Amino acid sequence: MGKKKKSEAKAKTRLSSAVRVPTRKAKRFYGHGIPRVDLKQLTGRLIVVEGADGSGRSTQINRLVEWLEGCGHATVQVGLKRSTLVSEELEQAQQGNILSRSTLSLFYATDFADQLENVILPALKAGFMVLADRYIYTLMARNMVRGMDEKWLKNLYGIALEPDAVFYLNVSPEQLVQRNFAKNSALDYWESGMDLGLSRDMFDSFLQYQALMAKQFTILRDSYRFTIVNGNRSADAINAELRKHIEKIIAGS
Ligand SMILES: Nc1ncnc2c1ncn2[C@@H]1O[C@H](COP(=O)(O)OP(=O)(O)OP(=O)(O)O)[C@@H](O)[C@H]1O
Ligand SMILES: [Mg+2]
Repeated sequence: MGKKKKSEAKAKTRLSSAVRVPTRKAKRFYGHGIPRVDLKQLTGRLIVVEGADGSGRSTQINRLVEWLEGCGHATVQVGLKRSTLVSEELEQAQQGNILSRSTLSLFYATDFADQLENVILPALKAGFMVLADRYIYTLMARNMVRGMDEKWLKNLYGIALEPDAVFYLNVSPEQLVQRNFAKNSALDYWESGMDLGLSRDMFDSFLQYQALMAKQFTILRDSYRFTIVNGNRSADAINAELRKHIEKIIAGS
């Protein structure tokens, strides 16, 4: 290499180590996705908060929304059973306990697909911060606990967009019971896995069911890369950790 070329190469190396241009992680679907979506146009960020019933998801999302909007970011919130297309019917079907497991899971998948197509993707295209209170992982874990095939579920949820971050609030079963009672003075039939016949005692069933769900989340973590957050701490401490991660995501690293 000539002298001039050498010094040019050196200058380039100096420049690249001095200036770090933020690079946004490219968006992608987990599988087949939704047709005719230009992923490059999705300039917003999708942040998912996962965790068991009463783990503190709403508490954290409310705080994140306040913080993000205070910093000038527009936000949109999504969650399970919130689609305009099927949420009412889904609620009715659950009340009556009338649908088979696979039909119920397809109902949930429809609810998810509707929100993805009509809320999440348009909001990301408009540059919004989208905060999802649970995502496909809870749906998959619930179905896996009920014996459904992981491969079939992965294919079904291949429609989903990979989030920019997934935070899993890991809370001990004892804390979960306390928080659920503090909030509702009762446990939820489905979140206690009562349909599985683990135990006639709801409290006992809740503990067993949450342990089974946690195990499925560990399995899913290998494929879907969650950030596990210790959710047993104060809401402030948890929020500070989430903000740190999200700041990096906004900066593009
Ligand atoms: N870090 C925390 N420490 C102690 N209590 C908490 C913490 N975070 C939330 N809580 C309390 O626990 C209860 C459940 O919290 P929250 O509603 O945020 O959970 P959630 O995961 O959204 O529940 P759900 O599954 O019912 O939507 C509330 O009473 C809330 O005030
Ligand atoms: Mg909530």
